[in-house]
Amino acid sequence: MALQTNNTSGNIELDRVKCILSTTDLKGNIKYSNRYFSEVSGYSKDELHGSPHNIIRHPDMPKVIFKLMWDRLKNNENVIMIVKNRAKDGNYYWVKTFFEIKYHPKTKEPNGYLAILHAAPKKAIREIEPLYKRLRNIESRYGIHASQDYLIRYLMKDDKTYDEYIHEITQEKNLVIDFLKIMKELAS
Ligand SMILES: Cc1cc2nc3c(=O)[nH]c(=O)nc-3n(C[C@H](O)[C@H](O)[C@H](O)COP(=O)(O)O)c2cc1C
Repeated sequence: MALQTNNTSGNIELDRVKCILSTTDLKGNIKYSNRYFSEVSGYSKDELHGSPHNIIRHPDMPKVIFKLMWDRLKNNENVIMIVKNRAKDGNYYWVKTFFEIKYHPKTKEPNGYLAILHAAPKKAIREIEPLYKRLRNIESRYGIHASQDYLIRYLMKDDKTYDEYIHEITQEKNLVIDFLKIMKELAS
């Protein structure tokens, strides 16, 4: 199935209803991928399975974001991130990704990871793209410690945790709820 691409920019428009799924081992090597992953990325299941997940890494993604992701997973915490991925043909797609830890049913030890990817809300992309650009610039000049410091200060300035920040920028406006709130206020 042909995917809709904005040819001038290379942005792949994702279906807002479908999700991309993958699982990996503890090192991030892909073990399972769903059909939509192949449709969007342009890689076949055979190409994906056994490959490290950075096969779709986009060079615009700051290293510090993946460091944060791995630190959280190794600390037994799930995490949500906004990620720009690169398809095989060089086009890109923005996703809101839920990274989750998988546990062995008997030993209860972590035995891999699961990623659930949806189209990232436009508001989140508008917010995070300039931040990622700054982080990349800092990283290329001064290294990952400097970009990590910048990210911490960026969140501290609004007194937010990383999770609160992601929650805020990914919240989609619900016009129905807003309308009902206004009606309630008017009636009181
Ligand atoms: C379950 C899971 C899903 C991942 N999904 C992505 C992804 O969609 N895009 C991506 O660039 N990295 C993803 N990663 C992270 C990669 O494994 C890797 O850390 C990242 O691409 C940075 O690569 P690098 O260390 O070679 O720079 C995922 C990792 C896991 C465990």
